[in-house]
Amino acid sequence: MTDRLTITRPDDWHLHLRDGAMLAAVTPDTALHFGRALIMPNLVPPVVTGSDAAAYRARIMAACPDGASFTPMMTLYLTEGTDAADLVVAARDGIITAVKLYPAGATTNSASGVRDIDRVMPVLEAMAEAGVPLCVHGEVTDSKIDIFDREAVFIDRVLDPLRRRLPALRVVMEHVTTSDGIDYVRAGGESIAATLTTHHLFINRNHILAGGIRPHYYCLPVAKRETHRLALVAAATSGDPSFFLGTDSAPHLDSAKLAPCGCAGIYTVPNTLACLAQVFENEGALDRLDGFVARHGAAFYGVPVNDGTVTLVRTAAPQPVPDDRATPEGDLTVFDPLVPIHWAVEG
Ligand code: NCD
Ligand code: ZN
Repeated sequence: MTDRLTITRPDDWHLHLRDGAMLAAVTPDTALHFGRALIMPNLVPPVVTGSDAAAYRARIMAACPDGASFTPMMTLYLTEGTDAADLVVAARDGIITAVKLYPAGATTNSASGVRDIDRVMPVLEAMAEAGVPLCVHGEVTDSKIDIFDREAVFIDRVLDPLRRRLPALRVVMEHVTTSDGIDYVRAGGESIAATLTTHHLFINRNHILAGGIRPHYYCLPVAKRETHRLALVAAATSGDPSFFLGTDSAPHLDSAKLAPCGCAGIYTVPNTLACLAQVFENEGALDRLDGFVARHGAAFYGVPVNDGTVTLVRTAAPQPVPDDRATPEGDLTVFDPLVPIHWAVEG
């Protein structure tokens, strides 16, 4: 049995770092294991211009420990007022890597998102022309659509029509949670890819709702039934380069999670690599972990793989869940995968 696994220093292609005290608390966890991360722009107010992104990038760099080899890759938050020229210049100058589409109201801090996709078509056309990828939060917000169906309906109503209209646009379907999403990306050719989170490889909707309500497992898109989880595991461990890691690690203080109307988001960065090693080991696919965490995403985004490596060691005893992170504003709970994890990052 393999008990040491050295992989290329990985990337996280979907990460929430927040701002202020939370940014200071969580950035070191990412900088410890990851070479790069694609930073989500859903701050309040959101990151909408090239200069917002440059300023946010500087705040992230200030929160990195000295000597860390970590590069934040920035995104802009697409609004119906986005200035296409500013966006294209920010991409050309290397300030941003991608643009994020949040349907208005779909998730945390998405009130400034897009209500009518027709209103952002000129911006999307400019992105297609300039080769700037669009990262999509793929859920409709129509209150008549059941929350468990919102991803599948988004594909039919929004994503597929958009891609037919603008085939040159490169799209990442973020945090896919259904077999519908997996099938759509598999069949979609080179212009589409998908990120998969760590937590959706572990939890299904029973983990949130059966035997008591567990707010720490509530995130968006919400975890679906077990058949969907199995499809995600199969895709992640398949070696198909269309699928790569985007943790969607989304820290919220416990006080905001454990509330009558709790926030969506799970903090997974500290134990993500250990958890993923366990999933890939279970599937007999440890040799494919490097592709999923360090190669497929870099290839899609057209950047070289990171220098350096990370070594994972298999441990006889299961590893404890990392301790809660203490922030000046309160505690932050780390994801508990609820199954034994026999892997740890060395060092
Ligand atoms: C994210 C957040 O808290 O910013 N929450 C989540 O449940 N994933 C937003 C998002 O990516 O949907
Ligand atoms: Zn997210």
